[in-house]
Amino acid sequence: MKDSEKFNILLKQELEKCIDPVYFTENYVKIVHPKKGVIDFDLYDYQANLLRAFKKNRFNIVLKARQLGVSTVVAAYCLHRAFFKNNQNILVCATKLDTAKNIVGIIKSMYNRLPKAFKMINPLIMDNITGIRLSNGSIIQSSTTTEDLGRSQALSLLVIDEAAWVKKPNSLEKIWASLRPTLATGGDCIIISTPNGIGNKFYELYKEAEEGKNEFVPHKLMWYLRYDKEWFEKECKDKTPQEIAQEYCCEFIGSGKTVIDVNILSDIGNNIIKDKDLITQLDNGINIYKLYENNLPDNSVNIMFCDVSRGENSGDYNAFHIIDIVNKIQFCDFKAKIDINNYVNIVLKYAIKYNASIMIENNGVGHSLISSLLMLYRERPDYTVEGTKIEDIKIICETHARNMTNVIENINEFVEENSLVTDDIEYDDIIFYF
Ligand SMILES: Nc1ncnc2c1ncn2[C@@H]1O[C@H](COP(=O)(O)OP(=O)(O)OP(=O)(O)O)[C@@H](O)[C@H]1O
Ligand SMILES: [Mg+2]
Repeated sequence: MKDSEKFNILLKQELEKCIDPVYFTENYVKIVHPKKGVIDFDLYDYQANLLRAFKKNRFNIVLKARQLGVSTVVAAYCLHRAFFKNNQNILVCATKLDTAKNIVGIIKSMYNRLPKAFKMINPLIMDNITGIRLSNGSIIQSSTTTEDLGRSQALSLLVIDEAAWVKKPNSLEKIWASLRPTLATGGDCIIISTPNGIGNKFYELYKEAEEGKNEFVPHKLMWYLRYDKEWFEKECKDKTPQEIAQEYCCEFIGSGKTVIDVNILSDIGNNIIKDKDLITQLDNGINIYKLYENNLPDNSVNIMFCDVSRGENSGDYNAFHIIDIVNKIQFCDFKAKIDINNYVNIVLKYAIKYNASIMIENNGVGHSLISSLLMLYRERPDYTVEGTKIEDIKIICETHARNMTNVIENINEFVEENSLVTDDIEYDDIIFYF
């Protein structure tokens, strides 16, 4: 057999192996490291997992810490997709054209560093600042999220980078509404961002994805997947807790404009008691901080945050935690696989014991708990727990997770004035909606 025939057989075998994006990236893709120059793209495990997920699932949403190499791995995926599938129409959007162009720039430089034999099979036939076209008909284009994207043609893959940071007057909501139809013919979508507070479309899509309520597969990537503790401490030195929560810890609550001072939120986070010796663990799944077990500090104002199981799966947990928001400490938590009736009893018992207002998210999930509590209120108004009447506790319902900032705002008011604002007519004296 001639050398050229042998070469062609090997090339064909190699190209077949490259159908796997992880194999292709690790063996043929190069990246430019700021200090080391051009290096092989040795994937971190989470990067390899992302590549597999991008190939497997139509819709992926990535909540990430800064500088994890996500834009770079997405660039490798776009290149793989354009190179090994014909006629792909790929659009990469970001808040700033520079960022979008930068991803396309990375894709181009990855393409240029592929082996010659690969490039000869699928040459670059158009190359300008905003995009490239390959001879197999695939194109990759970049755009800002502020442009009118509604007129885009049917897309095979849409990438939205820095999705929580889309600037006004546009919003991810608008962009998603106008681009969603361009995926109707079977296109895939990857949405990526660090968090930017709550109450935006990225937050909504990610939370829904976590709850299995939309078609996106969620991925959460924390800083420690790539970096060590020393790096983290050095990065955090000059940053506010808000910046740390946002840029490194994938925290929605602490980022954006929360009304409770972010230092308080972070203090609460830090004051979750981890030392087992300081905790009493009860058989029923309750953990209580010993100092709070039988005596509450005089100034304590306690809120019990209830986390009701989705109920679709009998293995789900019902849970709650109680926070003293004045002393900024989470002193009690509970988690168990119990039915809603037992859960209601435990919620009431500990809300009364610790004089805690009960906070429930008023969504489909929280609804069963709310209804059960209401029934108790109506049918057994004299129900007491250790001498306290049920009507002495307050229940706060947030109508939607998006209203969390409002809830927090009103908790502040509650702390200041020791009163809650009520404007709900239906359950007036029982439930306080914000
Ligand atoms: N597997 C890897 N090995 C070495 N360097 C890597 C790897 N992956 C990415 N990098 C480098 O890490 C740096 C950050 O990558 P990138 O910009 O893709 O991260 P990002 O998560 O998108 O960051 P940002 O939060 O700024 O958007 C770049 O210099 C990139 O070349
Ligand atoms: Mg990036």
